[in-house]
Parts: sequence; C-alpha cells; structure tokens
Amino acid sequence: MKSTLRPLLASALVGAALLGGQAHAAGVDATKMLDLARSSGCLACHALDHAKVGPSYAEIARRYQGRPDAVHTLQQAILNGHSGTWGLVPMPAYGGSQDLLTAAQARDLARWVLSQAGARAAP
Ligand code: HEC
Repeated sequence: MKSTLRPLLASALVGAALLGGQAHAAGVDATKMLDLARSSGCLACHALDHAKVGPSYAEIARRYQGRPDAVHTLQQAILNGHSGTWGLVPMPAYGGSQDLLTAAQARDLARWVLSQAGARAAP
C-alpha cells in the first residue's frame, strides 16, 4: 500500500505547486520538465517562485503571458543565452556549440516555464 501511495503523493505535491493542473495546459509533462531543468543545472540559478541568480520562472511566465511569440522568445534565450532583460547577469547558452539541449528540449522547457505563472512552492 505504501509503495502505491508514494507516487500519488508526489504527483499531488507537484500538482499543488503548479496550482490547479496547469501542467497539461502547457502541453508538456511538468514532472519531466522539472527533472530536465534540475539535471541541466537550471535550478542552480532559477527557482519556480523566487529570484536567485536569475528571475523566478513565475516572474518570467507573468512577464511573457499573452505574448504570441513567448515560446519562441524563451526557447531562443535558452538556446543562445540572454542578457539585459532582467539585470546585468547573463543567462548561459545551452544550444549551438554548447550542445547541451536540443531545440525541442529548449522549446518544451520554454513551455513549462510559461506554465509557472502561479508557482508558489519552491522545487
Ligand atoms: C548561471 C546561471 C543560470 C543558469 C544555469 C540558467 N539561467 Fe536562465 N537566466 C539566468 C539569468 C541571469 C537570466 C536573466 C537574463 C536577462 O536579464 O536577460 C536568465 C533568464 C532566463 C529566461 C528568460 C529569458 C528572457 O528572454 O526573458 C529563461 C526562460 C531561462 N533563463 C530559462 C533557463 C533554463 C530553462 C535553464 C536551464 C536549461 C537556465 N535558464 C539556466 C541565469 C541562468
């Protein structure tokens, strides 16, 4: 019984962190994206709900909410790096010669970040 409850509890917690199942609205698997963000080192500089070295994903989602080019803009920032929008610290590039993420992975991460507008809980 315990072993069947554990994953349920874990997904309930993730669901709560995403406030009302926005995971599916983004069209990506939020648990997989959180794992990818963690294994890619994103969470060294970003948290869902508070600024670290970089802005929180909630803040990013709120800034780009309603912009039709939001997924593309954030995908490009992840692939090519970015600076100047949030402060003086640059965001490192993950695409191109770095070859750390594919364009599809960067797009899915962008979609996931954009689904975090209501994030309250730290990862
Ligand atoms: C070394 C620290 C660092 C790491 C690692 C990092 N970021 Fe960032 N990120 C930043 C900073 C700083 C900014 C703000 C850049 C700016 O002002 O334009 C930023 C900005 C962003 C933005 C917003 C870009 C924009 O155009 O407004 C997104 C989306 C983002 N990061 C996603 C990610 C993802 C996904 C990863 C992992 C694949 C990642 N970041 C890893 C520091 C980091």
